[in-house]
Amino acid sequence: IGYSQIGAESEWRAANTISIKETAEKLGVELRFMDAQQKQENQIEAVRKLIIQKVDVIGLSPIVETGWEEVFREAKDAGIPIILVDRRAAVPQDLYVSYLGSDFLEEGRNAARVMAKLVEGQANIVELVGTIDSAPANDRFTGFREILKDYPGMQIIASQSGDFTRARGKEVMAGFLQTYGNTITALYAHNDDMALGAIQAIEEYGLKPGVDITIVSVDAARGAFEAMIAGKLNATVECNPLLGPQFFELALKVVNGETIPKWVPSIETIFFPEDAIEILPTRTY
Ligand code: AHR
Repeated sequence: IGYSQIGAESEWRAANTISIKETAEKLGVELRFMDAQQKQENQIEAVRKLIIQKVDVIGLSPIVETGWEEVFREAKDAGIPIILVDRRAAVPQDLYVSYLGSDFLEEGRNAARVMAKLVEGQANIVELVGTIDSAPANDRFTGFREILKDYPGMQIIASQSGDFTRARGKEVMAGFLQTYGNTITALYAHNDDMALGAIQAIEEYGLKPGVDITIVSVDAARGAFEAMIAGKLNATVECNPLLGPQFFELALKVVNGETIPKWVPSIETIFFPEDAIEILPTRTY
């Protein structure tokens, strides 16, 4: 099995990589794992290499949605099925066998629903967007706004990409604070890493994260639970990275010629500070 991973931008991604590698080892599957170090061109090259190596199935987590059609056609012409893992690609449906991953739109909607409750419908929100043109950033952006339409007292006053990393999250939040200062009352971060970086920026600015600024993020990684226990994060919407077992199950079915669903959604929930102490020891990522 070949696998093209995005890189190592977040706690989530690290857990996702471990899940893929550990499951392959457990199952005795020969895994050709390629890390694209955050570059689409490296992912395209990886897919081409895997085609030459004649792997049975290619797993791919596409960094962005667009720009895949040509290489997907090459895989199809070579008779190698592609399973999209974690992120979708904007290609015709006949170019991949299945998408295994989250409902990012619903994650965005849930983040807005939770935020609306926490701020009682009144907020000046800044938004840390994920990697530009990635499926989770696109959908978390759209889903959040869908719900916000029903809350006229909640406005997004600034929105910028923090590329899903802690360092960029901190940097962009520092910029928001410089421009908008304490008129900011809420932060929506498309992942926990950016929220954790932003928390540092808020503290350095002299405000209390989770108190002066209500913060909702996505992933539910361990770092988010620690921040909730410390009272610095108000909620995290789960996005499950432990996709290894489901991926290899799907890959095996494909190899055996079985039909598999076009979309296998992950099962996810929302976590709040009041449950964080109890839940943290059970979190594996
Ligand atoms: O595609 C899933 C997203 O990618 C996660 O929310 C984020 O943390 C990761 O980097």
